[in-house]
Amino acid sequence: MNAPRVDVYLTHDHADRSLRADALRGLTSSPKWLPPKWFYDKRGSDLFEEITRLPEYYPTRAERSILDAYAGDIARRTGVHTLVELGSGSSDKTRLLLDALQGEGSLREFVPLDVSETALRDAVEALHTDYPALGLHGVVGDFTEHLGHIPGQAPRMVVFLGGTIGNFFPKERATFLGDLHNTLEPGEWFLLGVDLVKDPAALVPAYDDAAGVTAEFNRNVLAVLNRELSGDFDLPNYRHVAVWDAENEWIEMRLRATAAATVTLADLDLQIELAAGEEIRTEISSKFRREGIERELTAAGFSPDSWWTDPEGRFALSLARAT
Ligand code: SAH
Ligand code: TRP
Repeated sequence: MNAPRVDVYLTHDHADRSLRADALRGLTSSPKWLPPKWFYDKRGSDLFEEITRLPEYYPTRAERSILDAYAGDIARRTGVHTLVELGSGSSDKTRLLLDALQGEGSLREFVPLDVSETALRDAVEALHTDYPALGLHGVVGDFTEHLGHIPGQAPRMVVFLGGTIGNFFPKERATFLGDLHNTLEPGEWFLLGVDLVKDPAALVPAYDDAAGVTAEFNRNVLAVLNRELSGDFDLPNYRHVAVWDAENEWIEMRLRATAAATVTLADLDLQIELAAGEEIRTEISSKFRREGIERELTAAGFSPDSWWTDPEGRFALSLARAT
């Protein structure tokens, strides 16, 4: 009963065109950069799951402990019919919310949305097995483009976990929050997971682990370019670098060429030169403070409602309501 449905808004053709545009723009800029959504092919999604289990990567465990403690409060407070998750990945922690909302008796449907088709389909399949009575409607899409296609009956709660909001630059973040607000009706809910500013001695290892999994994850974006655009990046030539930018309060991930290289992306008719030591910027992960993120939510038209942290104050969940 209740067969799951998956809508695909990101066709291979669309992804191919936007990857080409991004690679051309980013790799011909100075400094060179690549946008982060291209990390998440099958291998990238698997590596991210591995990151979440690393001893140094505290955000997943901290966020899970908040959900463990407060999912019941969140469910009672919101009582929504539809739960929507953006950048849902495996939707593993989200099960705590599904359980709590089912306990309230209000939940009818879960709508996970992710760019990674394999991650999304795996998650939907596993959820269907474990929640056979729940309506499942997956969306393969980009949360910067396809928010208008989110299905489901009001009232809804949109959740955005994992600190993924920190991967936007501040301007993009304001645009995203405004767009999200525009897709919600007044009174609908937004639950946001944010990683908090803390001692760089704890932050940096979370993005530069001893086992080198994050380094492999970072380099995977070059493997995606090699495969999709017939590139010839020599992966071992690129060293993973994670630096704390204290002024912007974000971690910046880069790939540093250890030797000078000429790289060809045949499908783009593009050759790029990298000097020895030159870096490609691949991702930022911003860290937040309560006042700052609540100000941004308010500016986007949300009314901050509740704030929960783990006992050590490493990570927070902010619940806000669309006005
Ligand atoms: N929510 C999960 C996964 C976080 S990793 C957790 O908390 O553990 C970030 C997720 O966002 C990945 O699954 C990735 O595929 C997805 N993602 C990245 N950029 C995206 C975009 N532009 N649109 C939709 N999903 C995106
Ligand atoms: N949303 C995750 C974060 O910012 C994504 C992430 C974790 C990540 N480790 C990474 C992205 C390493 C790039 C490289 O914490």
